[in-house]
Amino acid sequence: MKRILFATTNEGKMNEIREILKDLEVELVSLKDAGLNLDIEETGDTFEENAMIKANTVMELTGELVLADDSGIEVDYLGKAPGVYSARYLGEDTPYSIKNQYIIDQLVGIEGNERSARFVCVIAFAVPDRDTIVTRGTIEGFIAKQISGAHGFGYDPIFYVPEFKCTTAEMSPEQKNEISHRSKALSVMKDIIIKYLDSLPGE
Ligand code: IMP
Repeated sequence: MKRILFATTNEGKMNEIREILKDLEVELVSLKDAGLNLDIEETGDTFEENAMIKANTVMELTGELVLADDSGIEVDYLGKAPGVYSARYLGEDTPYSIKNQYIIDQLVGIEGNERSARFVCVIAFAVPDRDTIVTRGTIEGFIAKQISGAHGFGYDPIFYVPEFKCTTAEMSPEQKNEISHRSKALSVMKDIIIKYLDSLPGE
């Protein structure tokens, strides 16, 4: 079975990714499980650039097939901040309870559509000697007026999805996986990976 490295160290994300790609006939291995302890600097200005930097760096180091993602939340009223800086917003080690409350506080007095926000996820697939491919998925929502829900991670407790009348932290993991930015980007990528595997000569 072919193996694909997934260039993330975030366990929350890795669990979602495994679930979404579970019927793909490949062994999905995280950097940690591959025994790689890498700290790749995300120097890009876009999600696409950062996902490609991560996938290409690991592919060049290992010579293996590599998937990487870059994701974050864009709050329109804050000029799409924190965007690519979502993980580093207010400091990498600052608890999300503080980051989330800070965003809510910035939007006090702001109503309706002006509270719009989205989660964005870009996946990059790096294959030795081929062009790296990227896919993008988004989910639209609004910044909630208070923190709610205990599932998920990061900004889930303030990301309100009107169709479900709750935040993504109030959804079950399965429900979130059905609609998430990550699952949208990954399901398009899944078809690309299947085509790539089918194109390989039989072993
Ligand atoms: P990355 O590791 O640079 O992609 O960081 C992405 C950051 O964006 C995460 O650490 C979270 O802060 C945020 N983020 C991305 N996807 C989600 C999600 O599904 N829920 C909540 N926060 C997310």
